[in-house]
Amino acid sequence: MASDGPNMQRTTFTSVLFFVFVAVAAEAQLSTSYYDSTCPQAASIVQAKVDAFVESDRGLAAALMRLHFHDCFVRGCDGSVLLNSTDSNILTEKSALLNNNSLRGFEQIDEIKMELECACPGVVSCADILALVARDATVKVGGWSWPVFLGRIDGAGSFADEVNGSLPERRDNFTKLVETFAKVGLDAKDMIILSGGHSIGQVHCGAFFERLYNFQGLNITDPSMDPEFAVMLKAQCPPTRPFDFMALDATNGTFDSTYYLDLLTNKGLLESDVALLSDPLGVEYAIKAVQDPNTFLFEFGMAMIKMGNIPASDPYGWRKHCAFTEPKF
Ligand code: HEM
Ligand SMILES: *[C@@H]1O[C@H](CO)[C@@H](O)[C@H](O)[C@H]1NC(C)=O
Ligand SMILES: *[C@@H]1O[C@H](CO)[C@@H](O)[C@H](O)[C@H]1NC(C)=O
Ligand SMILES: *[C@@H]1O[C@H](CO)[C@@H](O)[C@H](O)[C@H]1NC(C)=O
Ligand SMILES: *[C@@H]1O[C@H](CO)[C@@H](O)[C@H](O)[C@H]1NC(C)=O
Ligand SMILES: *[C@@H]1O[C@H](CO)[C@@H](O)[C@H](O)[C@H]1NC(C)=O
Ligand SMILES: *[C@@H]1O[C@H](CO)[C@@H](O)[C@H](O)[C@H]1NC(C)=O
Repeated sequence: MASDGPNMQRTTFTSVLFFVFVAVAAEAQLSTSYYDSTCPQAASIVQAKVDAFVESDRGLAAALMRLHFHDCFVRGCDGSVLLNSTDSNILTEKSALLNNNSLRGFEQIDEIKMELECACPGVVSCADILALVARDATVKVGGWSWPVFLGRIDGAGSFADEVNGSLPERRDNFTKLVETFAKVGLDAKDMIILSGGHSIGQVHCGAFFERLYNFQGLNITDPSMDPEFAVMLKAQCPPTRPFDFMALDATNGTFDSTYYLDLLTNKGLLESDVALLSDPLGVEYAIKAVQDPNTFLFEFGMAMIKMGNIPASDPYGWRKHCAFTEPKF
């Protein structure tokens, strides 16, 4: 059942059978050997492409890793974040306020998908590509590897208005972050570890302007921020330049535990980052990650596996092109 699932056409099912299929598929166990017989070279193709992309632009590692997160939190890991609008009245996830002009890497995913379609037509799902890419991008910039479980079935729906409320937001407090992760079956510790994804990548300056220039509406800098760090941020991010970029941690090109060191030394950037230390669990984990980086590097992979298991709420089938639901070149 699982091995031929993604190839099946919705039209070949009666509605009753379709719902049976969906129910089974939603519960289907993912497996590291899912493509072993149908596309044994899938993982090596993805890895070679990710290596090449990141070698030509190291900053892409962050963007590519983040796509899996934004995919999984909305309708489960179903590739819905990759879908383009075909009807201008219905915006898809990637156009939502939280994603538009923020998510990157779509062209690279399309290229990987094309190569996979040449090697093994009709086999590898877009959601699985995102899971493989997230691992390979992380490893390429210093993270530890983890086994990627495969066999996800792509969804057909993608709606901008489902993004708000599903994804965490930059000003969320600890309680809110825990609630948002709980909605997809992830606990507070998962949330704290996965926030370590901010060990790589960059953020628009405007995302932390309140902390720099108007803390609690008082026209002051957040007094909890390291003063020298604040001076540096103000130089890099003047109030007139909200669309400039700042690195998410002090070593944004390398996946490591510096993110947690930054938090502990009052150099956290987003309110959601700083919020981790408002709870004893976050403080404890940040200290552990700094003292024992290898534990963080290992546990990040385990948390990514758990995140990658968020079931698709409406699995549909395989796509020829990751941006479209119907076969299309
Ligand atoms: C805990 C709640 C989270 C919040 C509130 C949050 C919020 C944000 C924001 C506001 C940005 C910058 C967007 C921009 O300025 O365009 C960002 C970037 C990023 N986030 Fe998160 N995030 C969270 C969790 C995560 C998780 C779980 C991961 C991955 C496991 C992740 C990976 C990334 C990466 C890699 C970037 C940089 C992207 C790039 O350089 O293109 N984030 N996040
Ligand atoms: C789909 O949308 C992305 C941006 O969201 C764009 O870069 C890409 O060209 C679009 N793909 C196609 C095939 O139209
Ligand atoms: C997304 O960003 C583009 C480029 O800035 C803009 O033209 C478009 O209107 C935005 N889409 C939405 C839905 O806001
Ligand atoms: C999400 O929706 C809430 C309430 O509906 C609103 O306060 C918030 O600003 C929205 N966030 C975004 C990013 O649209
Ligand atoms: C956290 O944020 C939520 C909503 O954003 C708010 O209702 C709650 O009071 C906040 N909790 C704390 C401890 O500030
Ligand atoms: C905010 O503070 C800056 C200097 O820190 C000052 O130049 C500006 O006039 C203040 N704005 C208001 C509205 O008080
Ligand atoms: C973050 O690191 C990447 C890779 O080294 C680099 O391309 C990018 O410019 C950096 N971003 C910022 C804002 O420093």
